Amino acid sequence: MRQEHTPPIALIVALDEQNAIGSNGSLLCHLPNDLKHFKRITSGHAVIMGRKTYESLPKGALPNRTNIVITSGAAENYPGCTVARSVEEALSHCKNDDTAFVIGGGMMYRTTLPLADILYLTRIHHSFPDVDTFFPEIDCREWKMIGEEKHRADETHPYDYTFLTCIKKSIIQ
Ligand SMILES: NC(=O)c1ccc[n+]([C@@H]2O[C@H](COP(=O)([O-])OP(=O)(O)OC[C@H]3O[C@@H](n4cnc5c(N)ncnc54)[C@H](OP(=O)(O)O)[C@@H]3O)[C@@H](O)[C@H]2O)c1
Repeated sequence: MRQEHTPPIALIVALDEQNAIGSNGSLLCHLPNDLKHFKRITSGHAVIMGRKTYESLPKGALPNRTNIVITSGAAENYPGCTVARSVEEALSHCKNDDTAFVIGGGMMYRTTLPLADILYLTRIHHSFPDVDTFFPEIDCREWKMIGEEKHRADETHPYDYTFLTCIKKSIIQ
């Protein structure tokens, strides 16, 4: 599935202690610092998302990023976005970028985790009830953690959370 000239593929996700990422079409909770972290890391790059994740964005396409939506639906439903029919086609639109970011959701992460080179994980230190969407199991033997930044809950963040950066061992060996 990986083509020549494809840039490194990064997955960025906020997940709870049981790898849950969403419930009823929405994120698990509102963590303003995580949104800032997401914006800082992805701005200026291509972001690839599944159709349901696009539908969950409150203001549609994300500014200052090349938005690529994967869907079998009509392209005119996704203003400001490039529409792709497959992960391969989405990646073909990222050839001039230095990183392609997969930003969700569950279906997209399941397809692209085997292709990923970098993971930006926000681990929310809580187990949410009534969740319905999950990040796939991460095989820790395949990944080297290169960044860990712990944050305590505060008045605007109801849970402790940790920003983790992991790189695929096979690309550094
Ligand atoms: N915690 C986080 O960081 C995070 C990030 C993003 C999203 N989320 C959450 O995740 C949930 C949405 O995830 P989801 O799994 O339900 O949906 P999704 O992956 O966002 O979208 C699924 C849809 O995208 C298209 N699609 C996805 N992968 C495809 C593939 N490999 N090939 C062809 N088409 C593909 C299909 O669209 P068509 O049906 O139109 O063909 C499919 O129905 C929401 O709750 C959202 O809030 C959480």
